[in-house]
Amino acid sequence: MKKIVYVGMSADLIHPGHMNIIKEASNLGEVVIGLLTDKAIASYKRLPALNYEQRKAVVENIKGVSKVIPQEELDYTKNLRALKPDYVVHGDDWKEGVQKQTRERVIEVLKEWGGQLVEIPYTQGISSTQLNQSLKEIGTTPQIRMERLHRLIAAKPIVRVLEAHNGLTGLIIENTSVNENGIKKEFDAIWLSSLTDSTAKGKPDIEAVDLTSRLHVVNDILEVTTKPIIFDGDTGGIPEHFVFTVRSLERLGVSAVIIEDKVGLKKNSLFGTDVPQTQATIEDFCHKISLGKKAQVTKHFMIIARIESLILKKGVDDAIQRAQAYIDSGADGIMIHSKEKDGLEIFEFCKRYQKFSKRVPLVAVPSSYSHVYEKELATAGVNIVIYANHLLRAAYPAMVDVAKTILTHERALEVEPKCMAINEILNLIPGTK
Ligand code: SPV
Ligand code: MG
Repeated sequence: MKKIVYVGMSADLIHPGHMNIIKEASNLGEVVIGLLTDKAIASYKRLPALNYEQRKAVVENIKGVSKVIPQEELDYTKNLRALKPDYVVHGDDWKEGVQKQTRERVIEVLKEWGGQLVEIPYTQGISSTQLNQSLKEIGTTPQIRMERLHRLIAAKPIVRVLEAHNGLTGLIIENTSVNENGIKKEFDAIWLSSLTDSTAKGKPDIEAVDLTSRLHVVNDILEVTTKPIIFDGDTGGIPEHFVFTVRSLERLGVSAVIIEDKVGLKKNSLFGTDVPQTQATIEDFCHKISLGKKAQVTKHFMIIARIESLILKKGVDDAIQRAQAYIDSGADGIMIHSKEKDGLEIFEFCKRYQKFSKRVPLVAVPSSYSHVYEKELATAGVNIVIYANHLLRAAYPAMVDVAKTILTHERALEVEPKCMAINEILNLIPGTK
């Protein structure tokens, strides 16, 4: 009987290294590819460019592959125990880094039936990291970018979003990452905050910055990034205007718009009841949502309904009732907002929201309850966390400090340690030279 050979891979950007491994594996027997799902990949690095079905279509047509099955975790154990392969074949580059433990586990589990790990020397001169960089440089398309938010929600315990208000902050979100035990952490998407967009323009957050101007900022960010965008649509304006907003955002490849259930002169939610703010009636807001849903062309664009009941001190009951109604009228997601510091009413809402029979992705914005960890939100059922204003809040005091220091000393020498080096800024943006 032919031996069974198991090969686990992500197979996003297929290169000669993959071919070599598959060729060597097929010399040993019948090759079963354990293709890592989006979820398995997202557990330790960036979501792949191609989704599972697309990657599967490629891999199952490679010479020497007899079968492709999903591998749902980075860990091989489940598939190995089900299949009991004679061999596992892998490149020898996993002895260090994030896969080190996975490798040790494979060796352990194979012992249960006398299977063997065969390691193939890493193909030199090919780097997935380099290929990924080239892919970033090529950019993305509106449709791929738009759909990516759906994929992220499906693949990740919680989707991590940070605020941008211009191209530069967009680039920070695109490129910043930290490595922890081989796991690469980065932001998944970009929040187009009305507060920081308005503030960056020196204007109040009262819908005074018009859509054309907001879309200029979206365009600046689209131009230099590939990550999905969630647009803060404020109240969405009057329903007859909102339908055009939906169309414009969708055409650009923005993934979602969030509109809040307020009417009249909108003030920032973090004022709470310190300023007069009026909540929309359930009926009117549902009408706006359903008109928006009818206006969109693709099935992937999301309209997320933001509930202001807690901001306006109307209680969790009111918020729950609204969530139900907004979902029934077609909302693709719910954002629940609060300005309380303890976050308790958010968790109370989440608990009751979990019991809904028809649930849509849930968004939280922990600006005031910032002590809460992403893990706690995820466990409570939150799908998207938005850090809504932090880059601007970080930049402003730093800039004022530098301005004051120059005034104090009547020269710029003293601010040098507070500033990035001239050389650094000249090389920050590729193509400046
Ligand atoms: C924004 O970032 O503009 C928001 C969130 O809408 S909040 O400022 O908390 O209202
Ligand atoms: Mg806003």
